[in-house]
Amino acid sequence: MLLERIEALKAQISELTASNEEALEALRIKYLSKKGEVTALFNEFRNVSPEMKREFGQKLNELKNFATEKINELRETCKAQEKEANKIDITRPATPEVVGTRHPLSLVRKEIIDIFSRLGFTLADGPEVEDDWHVFSALNFAADHPARDMQDTFFINQDDKEVQRNIILRSHTSSVQVRTMERQKPPIRIICPGRVYRNEAITARAHCFFHQIEGLYIDKNVSFADLKQVLLLFAQELFGKDTKIRLRPSYFPFTEPSAEMDVSCMLCGGEGCGFCKHTGWVEILGCGMVDPNVLESCGIDSKVYSGYAFGLGIERITNLKYMVKDLRMFSENDVRFLNEFQAAH
Ligand code: DAH
Repeated sequence: MLLERIEALKAQISELTASNEEALEALRIKYLSKKGEVTALFNEFRNVSPEMKREFGQKLNELKNFATEKINELRETCKAQEKEANKIDITRPATPEVVGTRHPLSLVRKEIIDIFSRLGFTLADGPEVEDDWHVFSALNFAADHPARDMQDTFFINQDDKEVQRNIILRSHTSSVQVRTMERQKPPIRIICPGRVYRNEAITARAHCFFHQIEGLYIDKNVSFADLKQVLLLFAQELFGKDTKIRLRPSYFPFTEPSAEMDVSCMLCGGEGCGFCKHTGWVEILGCGMVDPNVLESCGIDSKVYSGYAFGLGIERITNLKYMVKDLRMFSENDVRFLNEFQAAH
């Protein structure tokens, strides 16, 4: 009777399967733990008649070894299966990587930097939080110049007038001209891209911050003709070989003479169209010969050195190149707008 039970249990155990370690542990408990079925048979050993004890003992030990081996065997299989499951399946289709786009202002800034780098200009930098000297005074702005007014310029900590009166957010990158000339002696040939701030209401055509690139060249015998040649090359690189330029007299405190530069309209090629208001020209930058007062303010002898400067708005150029109509698009980060520039990389 007991021998039959041993045989039946053995048959049962030989059929066991387990798909994971947990199921396997459940089987081990079911058969081999203190309250397990195999152990239960051992407990009946004392009821066996003495002449049967030997055979029964042997069979019982066999059963126990058999069960232990079976469990161990299943454990190995489980481990192997788990290892297989954790393997990286290199045949699975890859999840597509979502690649971002460069911001249009960054694209245009890079393009402009590349052009001037080829012409021998190096990059210069300066702080956005500036003082009155670098933004205005050293650049020959009169004490009562309207640009110094709070309407145009952001002041840092207006309440503490005694200490902070002179600390402002720069309203143009021309401040980096001063920083560079104070630090470095001629020849100087730099461009400076950067963000500038003005106290303007935000509309499609104006923003309280935007981006400029400043250019400065100081050496012996620099002339207006040098300025014109560099700007012509720049315009043709940026807008195409057939682009023409025109310089109109203008006024900036830090240049004398000063000019504004127009390029032939990139839409009609100068014929006249709605975009250029039928003039054939669109304005792109301000420029001029550095005023001797500015050179002297920065410790450069204006009898020995002369130079030119120019400044352009990156948003303005980007609008012209990509026909963006609303300045606010540049800072809203609407991905539908930004994705438009995927192909422009
Ligand atoms: N700083 C001027 C502005 O923000 C732009 C400018 C005009 C810069 C003429 C120059 C320059 O260097 O020569 O409107």
